[in-house]
Amino acid sequence: MVRIGKLNRDAGKKNPLSGGVALVTGGSRGIGRAIAHRLASLGASISICGRDFATLEESAQSVAKIGVPVHFQTADVTKSADVTDLVVKTEMKLGQITILVNNAGIGLFGPAHEKTEADWDRVLDTNLKSVFLVSRAVAPSMIRRGSGDIVNISSLAGKNTFAGGGIYCASKWGVVGLSGCMAEDLREQGVRVSVICPGSVATEFSTRGAKDTSKALSPEDVAHAVEAIVTQNPRSFLSEIHLRPLRKP
Ligand SMILES: NC(=O)c1ccc[n+]([C@@H]2O[C@H](COP(=O)([O-])OP(=O)(O)OC[C@H]3O[C@@H](n4cnc5c(N)ncnc54)[C@H](OP(=O)(O)O)[C@@H]3O)[C@@H](O)[C@H]2O)c1
Repeated sequence: MVRIGKLNRDAGKKNPLSGGVALVTGGSRGIGRAIAHRLASLGASISICGRDFATLEESAQSVAKIGVPVHFQTADVTKSADVTDLVVKTEMKLGQITILVNNAGIGLFGPAHEKTEADWDRVLDTNLKSVFLVSRAVAPSMIRRGSGDIVNISSLAGKNTFAGGGIYCASKWGVVGLSGCMAEDLREQGVRVSVICPGSVATEFSTRGAKDTSKALSPEDVAHAVEAIVTQNPRSFLSEIHLRPLRKP
């Protein structure tokens, strides 16, 4: 068992997360995949989930080349039974989870009044309810150990409003609110809850049309912010990061 304090004291060393276990939801592609790679390169054992087996397996093989233990499991983070099974099997295989990155998410854009109830449920369940489900499954062991990092990937859409953003913004504003409240619930118990709000990131995610990927953030930029959070000195925490591309896409 490795406490976060120990991990952070070692932050200047080559593998500051060595001995730690990071669960990254949606680690099969895009931002989650980059985060899994980054945390592996810092020495953490990695568990990733997603729904598509082939993409997940390929991502896991790629992370494993870094030389850390890797667990991968198809799991739908909107389903509490899948989440429980994911956390149990991760901890059986790799040990207790020291870092949780709630990254899995979907985009759906267009005027809210034109969307269906099923659209609402799909986006809110994937982007918001999942953060509740997975955090709830992981928090008890972090509380028992008096340490841990929960990093939630929201969006600048969780701070702003724009036409066609209704359902997505609702989910990401919810993630910011949930993160802030969980941070207050858990800080006295040594568990840090942080939220990252990235601007536009060059991944397959957006259905809003082509982006100027030369100016957008890269998945590695978000991974770098996660690194900053989990290697922050143990007496402090980066509660909310707004991550913007330097030049507007
Ligand atoms: N790209 C951007 O511009 C941007 C900007 C700000 C914030 N974000 C946020 O960053 C996060 C990652 O986005 P991304 O751009 O990397 O998207 P992406 O390339 O589409 O990847 C999404 C990941 O989430 C997984 N996922 C989706 N639904 C899931 C479910 N129900 N259960 C388990 N896994 C699920 C996907 O795997 P499967 O499909 O196989 O399940 C995939 O691994 C999201 O929360 C997104 O809202 C993105």
